[in-house]
Amino acid sequence: MVELAFSILASDFAYLADEVRAAERGGGTIVHVDVMDGHFVPNITFGPPMVKALRPVTKLPLDCHLMIENPDEYIAAFAEAGADMISVHQEVCRHLHRTLQQIELHGMKPAVVINPATPVEMLVEVLPMLHHVLVMSVNPGFGGQKFLPLALDKIAHLAELREEMGLNYRIEVDGGVAHDTVASCVEAGADMLVAGSAIFSARGHAGEAETEQNAREFLALAGRVVLGSR
Ligand code: DX5
Ligand code: ZN
Repeated sequence: MVELAFSILASDFAYLADEVRAAERGGGTIVHVDVMDGHFVPNITFGPPMVKALRPVTKLPLDCHLMIENPDEYIAAFAEAGADMISVHQEVCRHLHRTLQQIELHGMKPAVVINPATPVEMLVEVLPMLHHVLVMSVNPGFGGQKFLPLALDKIAHLAELREEMGLNYRIEVDGGVAHDTVASCVEAGADMLVAGSAIFSARGHAGEAETEQNAREFLALAGRVVLGSR
């Protein structure tokens, strides 16, 4: 199943609960939470308190993308706050295997993220442990950036490896995924589509219908590829 993981980074935080519900009405099935620390990436967003605030607002899984230097130190806090999935960047994890074990031990689904400059090969040994691999299609740190097509080959490569190795991890893509790029991501093999600025109108209550419609159209474009390939 191809799913929309809508990134709340692009939403209007003053109306967060309503924004989430609007994206959900439009067919979004995963809430993507972009955690940034101002060190690993040049931007600061939010942390476990945001996850805690979101938890009673929706039943959808909370997919926490940690763009932070020391993810190991925060795994317990995210679990307590109610996170369902945690993705950590390969680039910051010296003991990636141990970090993934810790995420699993805390009852969450483990995932690894790779930056545009990081090759898929870095993950081969840990692929059997993963719920999903997140392929960055922009350099992390900000919403609204332009999609980097090099992500498509990496997605296809991960899909091949999944087949060859007899695994069932999912493939998520994040950054610049919008109405004009979503089809190529799905064609390459992505099945968790992160989108922020393409979904949220970020105009509070006035923009809710638009957000819902954006999500619906985005999923229709993704679904057309899935149907076409059958
Ligand atoms: C970028 C974040 C993304 C971002 C996507 O560092 O990881 O999740 O919110 O935003 P758009 O869809 O606007 O590129
Ligand atoms: Zn993200």
